Amino acid sequence: MARQQKINYFTNLEKKSMFELKYKTPFEWTKVVIENFDEFLQDHAGAEKKASGMAMGMLGHYPDKIKLVRAMTDLAIEEMIHFKQVVKLLNERGETLGRDKKDDYVKLIRTIIRQGKDHYLLDRLIVAGVIEARGHERFSLVAQALSEGKEKEFYVAIAKSEEKHKNLFIELACEYYDEKRVMARLDEVLTFEAEICMKLPFTAALH
Ligand SMILES: [Fe+2]
Ligand SMILES: [Fe+2]
Repeated sequence: MARQQKINYFTNLEKKSMFELKYKTPFEWTKVVIENFDEFLQDHAGAEKKASGMAMGMLGHYPDKIKLVRAMTDLAIEEMIHFKQVVKLLNERGETLGRDKKDDYVKLIRTIIRQGKDHYLLDRLIVAGVIEARGHERFSLVAQALSEGKEKEFYVAIAKSEEKHKNLFIELACEYYDEKRVMARLDEVLTFEAEICMKLPFTAALH
């Protein structure tokens, strides 16, 4: 029976779980990024590496959840491929991978995660989905701002990929929790995330 329930997490993601961020990143952010593009790429590489580590952390935490383990395995690999691609862009520009920097945005958004068996996974999945959504928004802005070429093409592809990840996390949340509950909590997290974005300064970093 279990074998028959073929897992196809990527098939119906598009129809379900679409949501909008509540804060729109202004052009000032994109301007800082484009003017300090090497620095941005170094930060972006670090963000991809951390995203991969997060996916591995999730699957290690919930080894009994088949769908989650499979999805997080794919995600960890995909984020490391992104990492490799960003490092390649850096090297082609004569730059190296930078040191990891602290990410106040991620630190702050994670404070909304409630402890306790009933909430923890739900909140982790929703927060991860919102972080991916912000990545999708900002990589899209970078893609639009770059002039034609390899780097622009890369950011167009990255933005698409992060949009897929955004939906994946909400889809997973709906797998383990009632959809109404997921959507209600998502709304709260989106409000909280918008407040964080308003507070943080614009630097040549994803967040
Ligand atoms: Fe990524
Ligand atoms: Fe991602």
